[in-house]
Amino acid sequence: MTHMHVAGSIHADVTAPAPVWLTRPEDVNALTPKLWSSTVHRDEDGVISVGGVRLTDLAEQVGTPAYVIDEDDFRARARDWRTAFTGWTVYYAGKSFLCGALARWVDEEGLNLDVCSLGELTVALRAGFDPARIGMHGNNKSETELRLALERGVGRIIVDSSDEIGRLEALCAELGTTANVMIRVTTGVEAHTHEYIATAHEDQKFGFSINGGQALVGMFRCHHSPRLNLLGVHSHIGSQIFDTNGFEVAARRTLKLFSQFREATGIELAELDLGGGFGIAYTKEDDPAPADELARGLRDIVEHECRAFGLAVPAISIEPGRAIVGPAGLALYRVGTVKPVDVGGGVTRRYLSVDGGMSDNIRPALYAAEYSAALASRTSTAEPVVSRVVGVHCEGGDILVRDEFLPADVRIGDLLAVPASGAYSRSMASNYNHTPRPPVVSVRDGKVRTMLRRETLADLLSLDAGLAENEE
Ligand SMILES: Cc1ncc(COP(=O)(O)O)c(C=O)c1O
Repeated sequence: MTHMHVAGSIHADVTAPAPVWLTRPEDVNALTPKLWSSTVHRDEDGVISVGGVRLTDLAEQVGTPAYVIDEDDFRARARDWRTAFTGWTVYYAGKSFLCGALARWVDEEGLNLDVCSLGELTVALRAGFDPARIGMHGNNKSETELRLALERGVGRIIVDSSDEIGRLEALCAELGTTANVMIRVTTGVEAHTHEYIATAHEDQKFGFSINGGQALVGMFRCHHSPRLNLLGVHSHIGSQIFDTNGFEVAARRTLKLFSQFREATGIELAELDLGGGFGIAYTKEDDPAPADELARGLRDIVEHECRAFGLAVPAISIEPGRAIVGPAGLALYRVGTVKPVDVGGGVTRRYLSVDGGMSDNIRPALYAAEYSAALASRTSTAEPVVSRVVGVHCEGGDILVRDEFLPADVRIGDLLAVPASGAYSRSMASNYNHTPRPPVVSVRDGKVRTMLRRETLADLLSLDAGLAENEE
């Protein structure tokens, strides 16, 4: 008892208020379907199961923390996007999460792949992904990256700067080849969640500015280059977008470029890529539109804008990442410490420390992303109280779930599952505090398969030349 937080024990009945958007659940054990992958449910004894695997068993088998990907759910979402956008090309955005097995799923489900680094390209190629169906991004692609892309016949390189045009031309000349390119443009549209700003100024590192005229100059330069084959224009406007308003403005501005290019050259460009950024539900508050509704909206927009400019509708591509892998994944943690913290005014906040943290999910610390959580190893009849799920790292901002109603009796040893953790968690994970990164496992039909094994301390120590020297 000596370590118990005194204020916590005195005021434990007055818990921190919920933020306005977080409503008190009628049943704290209920799982809101839009947050979870499609096979998630509670077994009769209350344990959460995914892909036919009980999370208690999974924790025994692979340990915690761990990322769990529901293979059927991932494949179904990939198919949904492909079907909804029939006639368009869907590039899965590998930055959201990529490994060998997942690259093969993407391939088998008939999607193309967008990569943006030497590492992502190498994973895709080693997984046997057809290079012709790969798009290569990056605002500062190295010669090594471009060389590999050219040598392996990557389908399109999305060019981000005039420096890159020069680099690419020189490499093509050296290799005696040509490159299919798209020009990435900055439309001045910046979209996040429920809002978009159509007048956002273009003070950022990506792309060629439309406003500043660099976009058209870049397009002409590619068009006149004997080494480059200009396919079209690429625009990506943001992330976690729930409506099509931002895409409408971006499509108008990019298609105006198509029309200006035609005026100058007599040629209509073949392709427009509208990028990714389609939102998912991280909390009950988020209400993403289904892929088919988005597809209808985007098709109408493109057709309307093409009519307005008297253009034939070009081939269109999109690059969803999060919308496919995000909801298919969950992160599983074990509670190690429960601490009621007096936050003033007689109010107590319940801090649940788990065995992961900002090293396996940086998004809450990086841009205040909200998540949800559920008690995974059992149900509870205790009162729902606003709780904060925090990690093990030496940062006050090491928060995984800022506010969530969880049962008041969550205790040491319980498992917590954080849904919608498939995208930008493992792919942005770090080794902060010399923490090995968790494994990624897939589940399907009651079977657990390792996609990425758990990193070990030995993996990390093996990088340390100073320690290796000591051992000799
Ligand atoms: C060019 C481009 N395409 C696609 C994506 C994927 O975005 P999301 O995973 O939000 O769909 C991103 C994300 O940053 C991006 O920069």
